[in-house]
Amino acid sequence: MLVKSLLGSLVRTSNRAISTSAARCGGDGLQVHRDTPENNADTPFEFSAENKSRSDAILSIYPEGHKRAAVIPLLDLAQRQNGGWLPISAMHHVADVIGMPRMRVYEVATFYTMFIRNPIGKYHVQVCTTTPCWLRGSDEILKACKETLNIGVGETTPDKLFTISEVECLGACVNAPMLQINDDYYEDLTEKDVHEIFADLKAGKKPPAGPRSGRYAAEPFGALTSLTEKPPGPGQFVRADL
Ligand code: FES
Repeated sequence: MLVKSLLGSLVRTSNRAISTSAARCGGDGLQVHRDTPENNADTPFEFSAENKSRSDAILSIYPEGHKRAAVIPLLDLAQRQNGGWLPISAMHHVADVIGMPRMRVYEVATFYTMFIRNPIGKYHVQVCTTTPCWLRGSDEILKACKETLNIGVGETTPDKLFTISEVECLGACVNAPMLQINDDYYEDLTEKDVHEIFADLKAGKKPPAGPRSGRYAAEPFGALTSLTEKPPGPGQFVRADL
């Protein structure tokens, strides 16, 4: 039965070659930096007063001699302050703050795809297309994103509101298909949900995150299929050998 269901899904989505690699957004597609007018070593960047306090608090967690371990949270803080992307001057600032060679910071920022190294839309739409989401219709979800926003993967809308990325598993497979927009997960998606989510965002509203199917989390869709009896409670078990 399971095999039949999987085969059915494969036939339904077989128009995508299995060998296709995900195209990533322009921020992390290349491991090189090219100076641009908005992203060069002279681009002004330093932590705001509020984020300076945050960076001090983050650094205080790490013992002397291990402050460099704070590089990921500090790069994340810099990226958030800069509207969702990380200019090279912000990497330099982080290197200065924690006393780490710039090359070591580049190594981290270019390794993790969560760091976006070129300008990006206000809403970063990351569509998961790994196998569980793919079997549950991620091709249709990605297509709906592209058609609604009229852009392709790795592109940003002219109003700088949306950028689409195709990403690997985001760890919410049990709620597939799903996508992430900035810090929020949208799960159990249909194409109609995608249209509604973008309509809300374009109207300046925040669509409710989480499953769109009515599920609270990842519980079964229907009634329980196991553990259906009332638990006997402590002390009511009878050992057969007594
Ligand atoms: S495969 Fe999409 S969240 Fe895991």
